[in-house]
Amino acid sequence: MAKVIITGGSGRLGRSVVQGFAQAGYQVTSLDRQRPQHPVDGVDYRSVDLLDAAATSELFADLGPDAVVSLAAIAVPFSAPEEVLLTTNAAIAHNVTAAAVAGGARKVVLASSPSIMGYGSPGGWIPERLPLDEELVPRPWHAYGLSKYVAEQIAAMFAAAQGPDGPVRFASFRPCYVIAEEEWAGAATQQGHTVRQRLADPALSAPALFNYVDARDVADFLLLLLEKFDVVDNGSVFFVGAADAMASEPLSEVIPRIYPELADLAAGLTGSTPAFSIDKARRVLGWEPKRSWRTELKQEAAVHR
Ligand SMILES: NC(=O)c1ccc[n+]([C@@H]2O[C@H](COP(=O)([O-])OP(=O)(O)OC[C@H]3O[C@@H](n4cnc5c(N)ncnc54)[C@H](O)[C@@H]3O)[C@@H](O)[C@H]2O)c1
Repeated sequence: MAKVIITGGSGRLGRSVVQGFAQAGYQVTSLDRQRPQHPVDGVDYRSVDLLDAAATSELFADLGPDAVVSLAAIAVPFSAPEEVLLTTNAAIAHNVTAAAVAGGARKVVLASSPSIMGYGSPGGWIPERLPLDEELVPRPWHAYGLSKYVAEQIAAMFAAAQGPDGPVRFASFRPCYVIAEEEWAGAATQQGHTVRQRLADPALSAPALFNYVDARDVADFLLLLLEKFDVVDNGSVFFVGAADAMASEPLSEVIPRIYPELADLAAGLTGSTPAFSIDKARRVLGWEPKRSWRTELKQEAAVHR
């Protein structure tokens, strides 16, 4: 049975990832400062502060994982002082990656964020094109975004250090605004509003450019990535989002009202097309998200009728 360490396994995204890997037959160890609210049977939960490089490295050496998926971070921009956000997230990414390699892991995946692209900057933001894809150069404007860009570069650095055909495979992924399973039923999402509120008021979803993804779809993406790592260029980055936008109108209509400067670029975002392309994950891995607000909210309404 393959051994995987998942960091941040008690968090909004981590809970679904831990569950997905356990269900898929992995031997899962979750490393987090916090205990999980609803532990998954058979999962080994350990409390550790991943800012402690020595403790982290000792634990990884003891556990001897085959693969590591690192989600632990301060996950919300401006939720801590800027210098704390930058140094915390960068240190966790480095400590975990170094410990994973030294502990013998052959597959290492780090969580980044779409926000590294720079949308929402008070200084203005006009990308080269929409939808955004992995070829575009990130332009983070806050410490959270920068810390996630650093995490991607840490994965790339370790990949570069061993060369393209080295034994350890690295990747980063940029999950869109994560919706955990209970949030379809009305639990608060990361920014405090419900999914229905985000859909009803475009101003709530606009700061994330109407992106989102079901946490279980992220777990499926990560399982596929680990399975197919051999076909992925070492140090690659992937956007991981839903196939549609978190908006009840086409983005070609809603974006120009909120961001007039993006009107021309958004003209192609007709129908339910999102502002973030997931074509790379589709093309390279054959991944396809299975959940959408269109299906999940309907199911919830049926359950509560
Ligand atoms: N939620 C989103 O919408 C979203 C979007 C883009 C990227 N991400 C990224 O995905 C990852 C997971 O996000 P989330 O929403 O589940 O966050 P979360 O805050 O719910 O979970 C993060 C977990 O990391 C743990 N953690 C933080 N610092 C730690 C430390 N020093 N040692 C050990 N554990 C520590 C926390 O206890 C928490 O359980 C993060 O890296 C985040 O930046 C999330």
